Amino acid sequence: MEVPSKPRDAVAEAGGAPPIDAHPVRIGETRLGPQFRYDLRAPRLEELDRFIVERPIRDWSLVRWKDVGKPIRVENYASGKRLWEEKHGDTMPVKTSWEMFNRSFHSWFVKDGPEAQRAAMRRALKSLASLRADEIASVFQELQQVTLWNLAHRVTDTIWDPRGKRALFRGLDVKRPRILFLGAAEGYEAMQLYAMYPGGEAVMVDYDAFCRDHRFGDFPEDYPFLGYDPATGSARPWYRSEMNLAYLVEDIRKLPFGREFDIVLSVGLLEHFPDEYKPECIEWHRKFLRPGGYAILTTPRLGWRTKLFYHVMAEAMNYTYRELMTVDQMGLYLYENGFNILRHGWIKTHNGIVAQPR
Ligand SMILES: C[S@@+](CC[C@H](N)C(=O)[O-])C[C@H]1O[C@@H](n2cnc3c(N)ncnc32)[C@H](O)[C@@H]1O
Repeated sequence: MEVPSKPRDAVAEAGGAPPIDAHPVRIGETRLGPQFRYDLRAPRLEELDRFIVERPIRDWSLVRWKDVGKPIRVENYASGKRLWEEKHGDTMPVKTSWEMFNRSFHSWFVKDGPEAQRAAMRRALKSLASLRADEIASVFQELQQVTLWNLAHRVTDTIWDPRGKRALFRGLDVKRPRILFLGAAEGYEAMQLYAMYPGGEAVMVDYDAFCRDHRFGDFPEDYPFLGYDPATGSARPWYRSEMNLAYLVEDIRKLPFGREFDIVLSVGLLEHFPDEYKPECIEWHRKFLRPGGYAILTTPRLGWRTKLFYHVMAEAMNYTYRELMTVDQMGLYLYENGFNILRHGWIKTHNGIVAQPR
């Protein structure tokens, strides 16, 4: 089944909107800032297809685990996790591992990429003179990390990937939707969805207060999300301060909501659950959806880029249970747990699925 296309697909059309003089990037442009890329390149709807590789599985009832295999685990944990467990003589609780992850991940988003690279290079050159193998290894590891981060996040924009996300989110049959973002972290994708389908409300949920206060709290005011202007029917950038956003610090398992959201979204959540817990995680995406609503999920996809990223960035990222999977595996989890898959494919480094409860 195809996701129905609505007039608000005008969001994908370039041109038409007046230039926004007060802001650094105009529609159709991209520019590199010190921490991230501003990207208002607005391909036409047909061209958005280049930003999602859709997969041709038509009948999920025919897909079998023996054919698609199972996800692989990322097991090279950050030393911070090991040290915590040695100190406490216990396995790190899941919530603590998220708290450590979020502080670490955030410290990367706020780095000035080129400056961090220059500083790491200076330290690397200086360390060579020390002739101490441990010091040399540690500064070269840092140099490798800042170089990869700068390339992966800032230059090639593989984490936020706005054009891929817009390609995944396009064509939903919703008007002024209420959006629920489970495990929202900095809330990026809820803001992108809001920009494309404005006028409703996005409720972000994360049980780590650091996410509300810093990952979302410090999210740049001047980041433009390319979206839709209901007044003119053409494209326009949206800024976070213009959106109707709420941020709840709460455990998803304790949310007070009923089946009241038009879209329930998660980005990088499902892969943190071993198979015995995946049905519960998938149920979270159903239980708050109104009839006819959409569940949208992404997970990092199995491939050399993600393997390299979680290898080089292990110290920064690997505090939690994590799997890398293919979109076929992800789709089968959803299908087996009662969802119909409307769109499935991959964007830069994530699998993406739009689904509805059967
Ligand atoms: C991997 S992150 C999501 C990826 C995100 N896009 C990012 O950039 O980090 C998952 C988020 O879910 C939150 N989370 C995990 N389990 C949760 C639960 N039971 N209730 C609320 N939040 C939860 C974590 O605190 C974390 O911020």
